[in-house]
Amino acid sequence: MDLKSKIREINDFPKEGISFKDITTLLKDGESFRFCIDKIVEDLKEKKVGIVVGPEARGFLMGTPVAYALGAGFVPVRKPGKLPAETVKYEYDLEYGKDCLEIHKDAIVKGQRVAIVDDLLATGGTIEATAKLIESLGGQVVAIEFLIELEFLKGRERLKDYHVNSLIKY
Ligand code: PRP
Repeated sequence: MDLKSKIREINDFPKEGISFKDITTLLKDGESFRFCIDKIVEDLKEKKVGIVVGPEARGFLMGTPVAYALGAGFVPVRKPGKLPAETVKYEYDLEYGKDCLEIHKDAIVKGQRVAIVDDLLATGGTIEATAKLIESLGGQVVAIEFLIELEFLKGRERLKDYHVNSLIKY
């Protein structure tokens, strides 16, 4: 299936010089959406995943159907101030400034096998932070799955200790 043709590219969004990969055009095509979720599920099948973690916001869209199909639980990683119960935070550097992600402290049990699912791998900062949060709770990151990988940003190098799979590469 030609998945790339389902991704809409928007030039100079959200800033000049960026070619934004709009996944909404893929998501609204039922056959393509199901194909992508099935592919991710297939890669995870033998990994005995107990929890799927998805980072806000597009990680929720890809992660929840994968969790459902595996019969695993879903745990959100969110931007600061969104989760209601006690959290752990991870702060990380951006090109300019800092960003922060949070997870509920009781979201993952020690030793639990966790897969991270997100829509896109760019610099890898979001997923590195997500993996650190999971590991700080004693979870074991057994796989990381993306719909899209921007290979020229070399995010995969940052995640070299993990099993990383992506369906569409630029
Ligand atoms: C985007 C994307 C990934 C992340 C990738 O999310 O959905 O989660 O950036 O970038 P990185 O590999 O350089 O960390 P964004 O932070 O824009 O949040 P959103 O899904 O809420 O729009």
